[in-house]
Amino acid sequence: MSQTILIESSEDLKKIFALNLNTFVGTDVIHRKNADDTIELLRILPQVGLVITQAKVGTEETALKIYQFIKSENLAIAVIVLGTCKSISGEVMCLQEPVSWEILIKQAAEHLGVNLQDSIGKVRPDFLPVGVHYFYDISKTPCDVYIRIKKGPSEYQFVKRIHSKDVFDKASIQKYEDQGLKEFYIPKDYIQYFTTFVTNNLIQKLEREDLNIEERIIITANAHEIVRESIQAIGFDDASIELSDASINSMVKSVKNSPQVAELLKFLFSNKVSYSYQHCHLLALMCHYVLSKQSWYRPEHLETLSFVSFFSDVTLKSNSQMRISTMRDLNQSNLTDEEKRQVMTHAKDAVVLMANHPDANDYIKTVLIQSHGKIDGIGIEENPGEDLHPLSKVFIVSDVFVKILLNPSMPSSKKDILPILSARFTNASYQKIIKALEQKFQ
Ligand SMILES: [Fe+2]
Repeated sequence: MSQTILIESSEDLKKIFALNLNTFVGTDVIHRKNADDTIELLRILPQVGLVITQAKVGTEETALKIYQFIKSENLAIAVIVLGTCKSISGEVMCLQEPVSWEILIKQAAEHLGVNLQDSIGKVRPDFLPVGVHYFYDISKTPCDVYIRIKKGPSEYQFVKRIHSKDVFDKASIQKYEDQGLKEFYIPKDYIQYFTTFVTNNLIQKLEREDLNIEERIIITANAHEIVRESIQAIGFDDASIELSDASINSMVKSVKNSPQVAELLKFLFSNKVSYSYQHCHLLALMCHYVLSKQSWYRPEHLETLSFVSFFSDVTLKSNSQMRISTMRDLNQSNLTDEEKRQVMTHAKDAVVLMANHPDANDYIKTVLIQSHGKIDGIGIEENPGEDLHPLSKVFIVSDVFVKILLNPSMPSSKKDILPILSARFTNASYQKIIKALEQKFQ
């Protein structure tokens, strides 16, 4: 589904516009208050398709500021202005106030390449966007693939770029990316066919035994990204369950045969692996280190903790959210109230999602809900107590270790991180876990 940012101060109009945009244009509406918080979001979500904004919020030249940002960053994001903004009226669509929702959805549909169909109001976008990374692990596609080109200030055209019989490699996809392309477009009727094709290809690759460790990590990281996006868009379906199973198995294999942490970090950074997968992979690895030192350790414990690592932050949308490790981090962050709320409840939200995953057993759900030290999965407990499950304790300490390791403004040497953990987790069983990590790094 495309995404649209809406800046509208009137609560009534906000509701009417959002509801109709969602129903008739099939776009996800994200509310923002002003130019600054819109720009902040565009920096992390450049795939937003459209910004609809009041010309001014208070005295701020909101439309102008946002338009200038989009232009300076060369983003293919259309802007519709509610009201008059003379300085850019030649370049963007300005709708005279009062703006009726019928006119707004007509304009939004045109900008997003959606055909507003019959009187029932059913929408039929002709093309749907898919991230460039969907093409990393395939060498052909089951259907023609298009790119979106700007035709005029408010019109787009879809041009065929890959034919269904073409064979391509990752380098040729990267060339598109180097030119700034973030998404290809698939004809709507083929989208299911296309995603199933990509999923099956990825599963086949992940299940290969002859992959070297680097190949395995890169493919698993890509699969992790695709699973996250799919879950955030539609929740679990058969394809994402199958793909996540294959990914977790593959991750467990690479964790068992992992290179040293320093070498692994270098590889993760130089291959532009996403923060979410860096975190997920290193977390599973640290859990493996700690578990292997426990007398009670059984192989299924690593499977449980790898499963939880894979999904623990799956509902979070941005790296800034995923980096939060204390309530202080959260309070001092620039996140919006809604984004903070998402961080506060993400442990609980992940457990709710798991209701639709057949492999999520009670151990997995317990560790997941306790993953930030709270029994009810809401908030962050910095110094959790002894009442948590032993596997949760291993997970929590490993999670904080990895968050510090990946934070550029915190120490990166294992020797410096361990005392920080020691000061934070004062209870006896947590101290033992820290000792186990210490032994690993001696
Ligand atoms: Fe988390």
